[in-house]
Amino acid sequence: MPEAALCFPPDFRWGCATAAHQVEGNNTNNDWYAWEQGEGHVYGGQKSGLACDWWNNAEADLDRAAAMGQNAHRLSVEWSRVEPGEDKWDTAAIDRYRQMLKVMRERGIEPMVTLHHFTTPLWLAERGGWENPGILPHFERFAAKIGVSLGEFCDLWCTFNEPMIYVFLGWLAGAPRGEMNHQITFPPGKHDLGLALKVAENVFLGHAAAYHAVHRVQPRARVGGVHNMGYIEPLHPNSLLDRFVVSQRDRMVNLSGLEATLNGRLLRVIGSRRVRELAGTSDFIGLNYYDRVVLTFDPSAPGALFARQVVPSGAEISDLNYGEVYPEGIYHLLKRVSRYGKPIYITENGLPDADDDRRPSFLVTHLRQIWKAVNQNVPVMGYYHWSLTDNFEWAEGWNLRFGLIEVNPETQERKLRRSGELYAEICKINAITTEMVQRYTPELLPVLFPG
Ligand code: FCB
Repeated sequence: MPEAALCFPPDFRWGCATAAHQVEGNNTNNDWYAWEQGEGHVYGGQKSGLACDWWNNAEADLDRAAAMGQNAHRLSVEWSRVEPGEDKWDTAAIDRYRQMLKVMRERGIEPMVTLHHFTTPLWLAERGGWENPGILPHFERFAAKIGVSLGEFCDLWCTFNEPMIYVFLGWLAGAPRGEMNHQITFPPGKHDLGLALKVAENVFLGHAAAYHAVHRVQPRARVGGVHNMGYIEPLHPNSLLDRFVVSQRDRMVNLSGLEATLNGRLLRVIGSRRVRELAGTSDFIGLNYYDRVVLTFDPSAPGALFARQVVPSGAEISDLNYGEVYPEGIYHLLKRVSRYGKPIYITENGLPDADDDRRPSFLVTHLRQIWKAVNQNVPVMGYYHWSLTDNFEWAEGWNLRFGLIEVNPETQERKLRRSGELYAEICKINAITTEMVQRYTPELLPVLFPG
């Protein structure tokens, strides 16, 4: 076969994404730490502990990322470190983040900073957290503080990570899990649809407040929300009921965040409400894509809006039934999201694969779909793989391994996985070549380079 390549645009960002609580270690002052202490909350009673020891030594992994040719990295700032008590700002913590971002810049890595990635300071969680609109001015002040303190090194900001996933896992966690057996409860572990919708509204208002706060202190900033979208399909395409539950789930999980932060429309189970201050509060769209979700109507599941997730026959499933590997899904979602007319960053994409036997093909097949979208003028600006290293995977603890780099949490030893070597090659030449595919996933040559 003659040599060919799938080339990406010259200024394409290649990186990984991480979240503070999952990598820093000893984040003892937020709601997730408290939740970890409760029985049955995290698989096998595991704890975040030292996580990947980033608070002491993020530099070592950032060096690894740079050596892999990555030119971008998405990380989050832990609010409870920066503001451990109301209006008490920890300047040493802020300096630590400044140091991390400086190191990134020195290594040619462009930072993208997320302001809220699933954790809330305990002092605010104790007052009701995102259930209480009283959190909004605090989040706004925090966003402005971070904008001022880190603005020297960063102008690309994500407000809130996956608002609807956050709301669903924390306030609707009683929903049946169907045939996919994730352990998916987040704090505060409530089951209350009315409250969930209220939290969603507060989170979107928080997003808008942070959007304006960051722009006020850094006019050139680009600020966006990060939305998790699954590719949702009906088990029986001819069944009206299956199609109904798909459209409901799609509307509430996939569309809610986009409609709120771009069009100022708060979607409800039925109907919607306009909230003027939400409209136009995204300079870009962050898209997190993991899997396809196939649903069927189930009258015994009112808590899940009558939807049950099923595993279609022949589906390729990642570790511990985490999700279905379905590369085409990212292409369809990119096309759909492009209708909002904003630049798009793939802010997360990955799979749990401890043995690394699926990740090399996952990488090239997903990147091919992204390449295809880019070639149809979908403005994808960058790709942030989830994740650089194995890390503390929330309710799944250390059980799910998402890293391009393997981590032994006991010894903190690292080992670059084969997929990490492949990703490094792609980052370095900004392309996927036939020769690369031949070496890593030869069986995929006809899929990646048909004809
Ligand atoms: C996303 C989260 C991220 C990580 C991955 C696997 O939903 O944003 O923190 O848990 O899933």
